[in-house]
Amino acid sequence: MALWAGRFSKEVDETVNAFNSSIAFDARMYRQDIQGSIAHATMLGKCGIIQESESEAIIAGLREILEEIDTGKLIFDPNAEDIHMFIEAELTKRLGATGKRLHTARSRNDQVALDIRLYLRDEMQEVRKLVLTLAETVCEIAQFHTETIMPGYTHLQRAQPVTFAHHLLTYAQMLKRDCERIDDAVDRMNECPLGSGALAGTTYPIDRHMTAELLGFRQPVANSLDGVSDRDFCIEICCALSILMTHLSRFSEEIILWCSWEFKFIELDDAYATGSSIMPQKKNPDVTELIRGKTGRVNGDLMTLLSMMKGLPLAYNKDMQEDKEAIFDAIDNTELCLKTFIPMLKTMRVLKENMRNAAARGFINATDCADYLVKKGMPFRDAYKITGTLVAECIQKNLTLETLPLENYQTMTELFTEDIYQAINLDTCVRERCSYGAPSPESVQKQLQELRDDLDWLK
Ligand code: ARG
Repeated sequence: MALWAGRFSKEVDETVNAFNSSIAFDARMYRQDIQGSIAHATMLGKCGIIQESESEAIIAGLREILEEIDTGKLIFDPNAEDIHMFIEAELTKRLGATGKRLHTARSRNDQVALDIRLYLRDEMQEVRKLVLTLAETVCEIAQFHTETIMPGYTHLQRAQPVTFAHHLLTYAQMLKRDCERIDDAVDRMNECPLGSGALAGTTYPIDRHMTAELLGFRQPVANSLDGVSDRDFCIEICCALSILMTHLSRFSEEIILWCSWEFKFIELDDAYATGSSIMPQKKNPDVTELIRGKTGRVNGDLMTLLSMMKGLPLAYNKDMQEDKEAIFDAIDNTELCLKTFIPMLKTMRVLKENMRNAAARGFINATDCADYLVKKGMPFRDAYKITGTLVAECIQKNLTLETLPLENYQTMTELFTEDIYQAINLDTCVRERCSYGAPSPESVQKQLQELRDDLDWLK
């Protein structure tokens, strides 16, 4: 018999029951549901809406249920409509009439809005921890590679020399922002919807500030309609996860390229690569490919949430039950990706020689050659043109700027002297790029230090 049976003359059709039920996916919020109910019962007792003794009995009953679920003694009823109904029914089974008093001055609409916030607040702590661990892992690897020269790319064409540390720290910077973005979203979410009721508050003398404080929220949500109909926080958190996944996906894409025979900048540990069922020579970067794939999935979750909300009139609509699978899926998959990516990165081998060799081809010191002339007084555009002509000559003669004879340089301009070879030496090119944020070992050391301070502060 349904809880609302009084109003109805028939049992709900079984297919509708199954269709309506969300316990299969919202049961994971049992802890938060009980936490919210304990705060609510405490407040009801303190405000004299139920008796203190009833409040105490309810809280004890809820604690017992929590413990039994935790230890596996109490199993979720798959026929329950949702986790809120399940726990309330269980409490009533144990306490009789007293259990029935828990739902005074509350609705499932504010209850579910509260539970998701509590759940996301807890879960995002785990995600942010993993994000920080990954950022630190990147820093640890980077510290050994401030002198590891590699080509920097634009359009995936070799462009200018950087170091592996400089390249890696780009990702650490993204991850730092991801952590800050998560914190922003969680902070904005940290208002308590409990007491909004179904939509229009309540006539009972509840104390919303008390429950907000008991549950560690900054304050109660200011508008009861907003309290039950807002899912901005799900969208915003999912968006933060999408951006984070986009970063992991770009990193993954580079790792996929780097471990190809065409690049061979890195070698994945055997424990983090897979073989082929037919080609005996294969070592595939499945982990990174799966992360790239799952990014699409998390973006899909974000679209689910945005599309689900876009046409909803105020206040609660059952459509909103769809928020949970989307945001849970986004969190689960992001966590999985982070947990696999971190050890994969830690164990990967960096093939410095191959990076250096790649940097030595592709004329990535051409800008430095032009700058050499500029430093000797030539306008940049003229220097650019001369260098372009020299590069074309090298390509034609199968030479590099390092091996092109000085006479050939000097046919273009007398400004070229023996010291051009020093100016276009790769080590010089990197060392001299010492502006703030640039790849010189000194600049990167500074960046690393500042970043580590920021990450420590975020911890
Ligand atoms: N399972 C529901 C959800 O997740 C709980 C809220 C139900 N409220 C209602 N008025 N039907 O959204």
